[in-house]
Amino acid sequence: MKFRAIMGALCAAGLMAGVATAQAAESLEVLHWWTSGGESKAVGVLKDDMQKQGYVWKDFAVAGGAGAAAMTALKTQVISGNAPTAAQIKGPLIQEWAEQGVLVPIDASAGDWKANLPPQIDKIMRADGHYVAAPFSVHRVNWLWINKAALDKVGGKAPTTWPEFFALADKLKAAGYQPVAAGGQPWQDLTLWEDVVLSQGADFYKKALVDLDQKTLTSQQMVGVFDTVRKIESYMDNARTGRDWNLATAMVINGKAGMQFMGDWAKGEFENAKKVPGTDYVCAPVPGTSKAYTFNVDSFVFFQQKGQKTATPGQLALAKTIMSPAFQEQFSLYKGSIPVRLGVDMSKFDACGKQSYADEQAAIKAGGYMPSLAHGMAQPDATAGAITDVVTKFMNSNQDSKSAVEALAKAAKTR
Ligand code: GAL
Repeated sequence: MKFRAIMGALCAAGLMAGVATAQAAESLEVLHWWTSGGESKAVGVLKDDMQKQGYVWKDFAVAGGAGAAAMTALKTQVISGNAPTAAQIKGPLIQEWAEQGVLVPIDASAGDWKANLPPQIDKIMRADGHYVAAPFSVHRVNWLWINKAALDKVGGKAPTTWPEFFALADKLKAAGYQPVAAGGQPWQDLTLWEDVVLSQGADFYKKALVDLDQKTLTSQQMVGVFDTVRKIESYMDNARTGRDWNLATAMVINGKAGMQFMGDWAKGEFENAKKVPGTDYVCAPVPGTSKAYTFNVDSFVFFQQKGQKTATPGQLALAKTIMSPAFQEQFSLYKGSIPVRLGVDMSKFDACGKQSYADEQAAIKAGGYMPSLAHGMAQPDATAGAITDVVTKFMNSNQDSKSAVEALAKAAKTR
């Protein structure tokens, strides 16, 4: 009797434990494109957090900077009825996915978000008034990364104007460095091009790439933008076609190249290689853009699971974790970004992180806070894609600036 009673009690406890485990062990299939050294470390923080909370992390990483390949994979998954639990989607694309009626709201985890997000970013996270996306961090796109030893060797300083930039590039070339490291992929071409647009002033950038104002797009100043891009291109190596952005960053890290135009996810690579800003490398705003700030905010959206129109416990936990102050801090420390949540302590951040934060606040006040076109923040997918094609074609041919501008004006009408 006694034995049976004990066994019964043990079995009941075992069953109960079984039920509890089964409930807690929801699988989270997470689609993202964070596969470089720094990126993997950053997304690893989320994986660890979710596993500690009892969830099973099913990594669905699709390599390819800026996510073009990841977006194709996502469409296939959703169409075949296998939508992941969450996916890395940002900017106007969030609304485009919400309109398809396949996302779930996550308001239950977003109680304090409105008070803790910059209004421009809060708006992007919602569709029809409901939160459908959780933001990770703010990347500044308009950065130039410079190898410090190379800079010192040629007695240079971080350039603040294009003439200074070209003078430095000439010196680096003469000293045997590849002046500019780059990867010839469409999104990298567009990143550089939008930097040069920004160097004409935040107003010019806004009129051209946010308002798509035809007069600005066809202006002589825009012809000059293409001329500048052409000149910068002459300082890149011929083997750049298809090169991943992080391999270009590695060329700066190991002293093969002098400089790279790239958003501050590049800092995640320097950090991962144990390099220190000011000692091993320099971060400087792209020439002519010190008062402006092109932002790129990564976020996850959450897909309906098994036809359910409400979020699962795992989806709500994921959203809540992403916006928690402790996660925001550690993720950005690895990723090279700054927390998107307002009021997170910046004391652990390096000089570049602190500068990004200060410049962001100043740009917001002065009207220089601009959504990055190259990183899906400024225009719907179709429009951004058409403009990308124009810029890439220009960078991979001998097309003259004037006809590129004509093509640009036409592409901007794509919806
Ligand atoms: C951006 C993304 C960044 C970074 C970069 C390179 O679009 O927002 O987080 O991962 O691509 O992959």
